[in-house]
Amino acid sequence: MMERILRFLILVNFLCFGLVNGQNYNVLDFGATGDGQTDDSNAFVKTWNAACGGGGDISILLIPAENTFLIQPIVFRGPCRSSNTKVQLDGIIVAPSNKEEWSNPSSRTWIKFSAVPGLMIVGSGTINGRGSSFWEVRSLHISQCDNLIITGITSIDSPRNHISIAACTNVAISNIHLFAPEDSPNTDGIDISRSSNVNIFDSTIQTGDDCIAINTGNTNINITRINCGPGHGISVGSLGLNGGNAAVSDVQVTQCTFNQTTNGARIKTWPGGQGYARNINISCGD
Ligand SMILES: *[C@@H]1O[C@H](CO)[C@@H](O)[C@H](O)[C@H]1NC(C)=O
Ligand SMILES: *[C@@H]1O[C@H](CO)[C@@H](O)[C@H](O)[C@H]1NC(C)=O
Ligand SMILES: *[C@@H]1O[C@H](CO)[C@@H](O)[C@H](O)[C@H]1NC(C)=O
Repeated sequence: MMERILRFLILVNFLCFGLVNGQNYNVLDFGATGDGQTDDSNAFVKTWNAACGGGGDISILLIPAENTFLIQPIVFRGPCRSSNTKVQLDGIIVAPSNKEEWSNPSSRTWIKFSAVPGLMIVGSGTINGRGSSFWEVRSLHISQCDNLIITGITSIDSPRNHISIAACTNVAISNIHLFAPEDSPNTDGIDISRSSNVNIFDSTIQTGDDCIAINTGNTNINITRINCGPGHGISVGSLGLNGGNAAVSDVQVTQCTFNQTTNGARIKTWPGGQGYARNINISCGD
């Protein structure tokens, strides 16, 4: 008996400390104030550089709860030395409150992650794009991040798309909440392009444009249990802008609800475009 307990304890110890060689990097330890007024962008960059440059199985960039961080347009670039990089977002991140305070007026993205395989963005926190003063910029743009996980977070008032995913393979997005006013222009919830093996499930999207837009170059997209609305629905497209060639295949949309949306699920094309939308299965009924 004693031996069994001992073995159990050794196992627990192993699971907690042995298996995952993780290290935390808290933005407050790198000079962030978290008062919602001071520009904390530099502290975030420093924290990212430390986390991304640290080795091991997983580096965790901590954005603690009970703090609000004002962030200017920022790019988190990989690849990182650790196999996985986790952004633990429990606090609130806010954009500058108006365009005059935006450090880079030509930036098309507020928060960008580029080339970070094994990226995880998780937590109970919120990103607030405060977009109502200028609806033009994507809130969270993630490109070339294979094995991407996003879960738990909330995005409100994105200044254009809430989350845009480009050129990522193996993506899981779940339990997220996206909110923008019904009359906010171009505030797609999740916009996906040139990606494959994407699972989006158990999320709530209330916004001014498409809840989810599946653009060209996507294959094997699975959307399940999404509560959409207000918004324009779930769309494949728009495909074939300016006579372009577009290809989308293997899209599965199941168990979604549409409440106060202008459309349900649809395929949108531009006149004159070429290509295909193939094997699209939308069965949201029950
Ligand atoms: C889609 O995702 C849901 C939720 O993860 C899963 O239950 C279902 O099997 C998936 N369907 C396909 C076709 O991959
Ligand atoms: C639909 O949306 C309206 C307004 O947001 C809300 O009051 C209502 O409860 C929703 N209905 C369902 C079935 O979710
Ligand atoms: C479409 O998806 C539904 C729900 O997963 C499934 O029951 C049905 O067989 C699929 N239809 C085709 C043609 O694949």
